[in-house]
Amino acid sequence: VSTEVDLVPELRVEAGSGSYPVLIELGAVDRVGEWLRQHAGGSKVMVVCDANTAAVAGERVAEAARAEIHTVPPGEQSKDVPHLEELSRAAARAGLDRGSIIVAVGGGVVGDLAGTLAATYLRGVRLVQVPTTLLAMVDSSIGGKVAVNLDEGKNLVGAFKPPQAVFIDPGLLIDLPVREFVSGMAEVIKSGLIADAELCTMLHNARVELQQRRPDVVTDVITRTCAVKVGVVSRDETETGERAILNYGHTFAHALEAASGYSPALTHGEAVSVGMGVAARLGQASGVTPSDVVELQAHLLAAYGLPSRSPVEVATDELIGAMAHDKKARAGEVGWVFLEAVGRASWGHAVAIEHVRDAVETAL
Ligand SMILES: NC(=O)c1ccc[n+]([C@@H]2O[C@H](COP(=O)([O-])OP(=O)(O)OC[C@H]3O[C@@H](n4cnc5c(N)ncnc54)[C@H](O)[C@@H]3O)[C@@H](O)[C@H]2O)c1
Ligand SMILES: [Zn+2]
Repeated sequence: VSTEVDLVPELRVEAGSGSYPVLIELGAVDRVGEWLRQHAGGSKVMVVCDANTAAVAGERVAEAARAEIHTVPPGEQSKDVPHLEELSRAAARAGLDRGSIIVAVGGGVVGDLAGTLAATYLRGVRLVQVPTTLLAMVDSSIGGKVAVNLDEGKNLVGAFKPPQAVFIDPGLLIDLPVREFVSGMAEVIKSGLIADAELCTMLHNARVELQQRRPDVVTDVITRTCAVKVGVVSRDETETGERAILNYGHTFAHALEAASGYSPALTHGEAVSVGMGVAARLGQASGVTPSDVVELQAHLLAAYGLPSRSPVEVATDELIGAMAHDKKARAGEVGWVFLEAVGRASWGHAVAIEHVRDAVETAL
């Protein structure tokens, strides 16, 4: 008997690889344990978290689900093959079987690591995502992409692993460090700019309440932002087309992150913020992005304390080189995502390298 209807999700991903609910509500984390006990049958459940998210929610979820719990150190360094091996062996020792469920309680690091485990252990067991950072709530927990890093590059070993369900509890964000919250806001602003003009208006009008993390306002904003991703992923799960718009600002952002050696002085959101500035200027120079859109974007990003210039020093040539190496760049030509209006984006724009160089120079 399926109890999924009991979740009454506002959002549901309907994609080729399956359909799953995205439940967004204050207190959602307290419903995970019972849901797991109902769905695991007699099989073991394993909660994966990091040392911070264990205290935020992991221990609570594991206790309510009567699950095994496995904790990794916080930070991007845990998203690697050695930790995947450690978790796989822990799963084997704990006796997880084909009916088991892996639960990721954490940010994008834990979600990607536990997701890769769920995609590969016994050739795949079920996965539930309980995101605890703003970025994970609005971005990484939805869409089914999971991966771990190699020394040779980020996200090189991974899979498509849609979860059974995503439980989003905005109340968990109360103690998220400001820098992490602001980083997640870059993805929120991006989502408004590419697909939801009304979200942009909300972000402008409610900026004080949002920065104070007023639970009702945060919940509304997360719900609207998730709706953008759920819609795009449902229409184009495997990124043959529209899903590319989610990469707005990311062509530059990924290159900046790589060229700076993934410096802790640069968050992903900061890189995306600078990258959206570059994309807006290129879009304007190409005659696709109107100047008032460029201005509104700059204004919104600044209002949330997001930068227009890189906070780390990187040479232009190094950045251009890193851009050419981006795994999404085809045959050296980067397909840019541009805004056509507030709330509307198009993808696959080619830009001459001299123009890219000019725009990049103004951002470094
Ligand atoms: N799979 C995807 O589609 C996708 C999309 C975007 C990003 N990502 C990946 O996500 C990762 C980044 O995720 P992130 O930004 O969530 O970082 P993260 O998982 O490292 O979390 C950031 C920090 O916040 C702490 N934390 C988490 N929740 C907290 C809470 N509620 N209260 C207090 N502290 C908390 C964590 O312990 C960590 O120290 C990257 O590896 C990136 O590649 C994946
Ligand atoms: Zn991103």
